[in-house]
Amino acid sequence: MNDEEITLPFAPQDAEMLVEDKQLREILQRQAKKAILSMAQFHELEMMYTCAIKEVKTKFEVLSTELNCQYKRNPISYITTRLKSRDSVFNKLARKDLPLSIESIEQNLNDMAGVRVVCSYIDDIYKLAECFLAQDDITLLERKDYIKDPKPNGYRSLHLIVSVPVFFSEEKRDMKVEVQIRTIAMDFWASLEHQMKYKKAIPDQDKIIAELKRCAEVISNTDRDMLALRKHIEAVQDEPTEEEILFEKLCQINKPI
Ligand code: GTP
Ligand code: MG
Repeated sequence: MNDEEITLPFAPQDAEMLVEDKQLREILQRQAKKAILSMAQFHELEMMYTCAIKEVKTKFEVLSTELNCQYKRNPISYITTRLKSRDSVFNKLARKDLPLSIESIEQNLNDMAGVRVVCSYIDDIYKLAECFLAQDDITLLERKDYIKDPKPNGYRSLHLIVSVPVFFSEEKRDMKVEVQIRTIAMDFWASLEHQMKYKKAIPDQDKIIAELKRCAEVISNTDRDMLALRKHIEAVQDEPTEEEILFEKLCQINKPI
């Protein structure tokens, strides 16, 4: 049916309804436009945080490559990253009674961009944090040392909230990134504890909480023992001679970077 086929005339009340209908349609169109714009802005923000993750991840990868070449062991076991899911963003803002807007996300959420660096030994955590924070484009906004002061449930990790400049085609934006640095053992505990947290309706909760805390202590002692072992081995090893150092450098030359 084309426009000419619409049958006229119609009653005056129908005309009023049509006017209301038109107004309603205009309101809905405006709202739909606003919603689409907000979604597009949110998507752009996600893109920016994704780029900030790349910047920070690269910084740790560079440190890893360099330290791997310098020492014969790799202080970083692996790096994982995540962009906060939309569900998590909305839930967190709602939980904290904060407005749902781009400005509110940028101001109030420190963990939109997350980078987790998993190390071999406890001293690697502090060494890497020091090297990373010494970089002149990194601004430390917040530091929480849950290794020196573990959470009551036994959680351990070094948390850094930093600001990093990201260069886009037309502007430079300082973006917040949450960096968690922990050992393989700490990561193992946190991953399993995180999974268990979501298992609801378990009768003996208190026992489980106590048992998880005990496991965290065992893991922490193991971390300390492994570090002591490494340091012992390093201490008893004779200082390399000049020839040995040169020979080592020669071997390194042929190793792929
Ligand atoms: P959030 O509002 O949840 O981000 O907490 P916060 O701002 O007080 O920061 P906090 O440093 O306590 O925690 C930030 C992140 O660390 C969390 O999102 C988790 O990834 C991790 N984390 C903190 N506490 C625990 C814990 O008890 N168990 C596990 N598995 N992870 C934790
Ligand atoms: Mg968080």
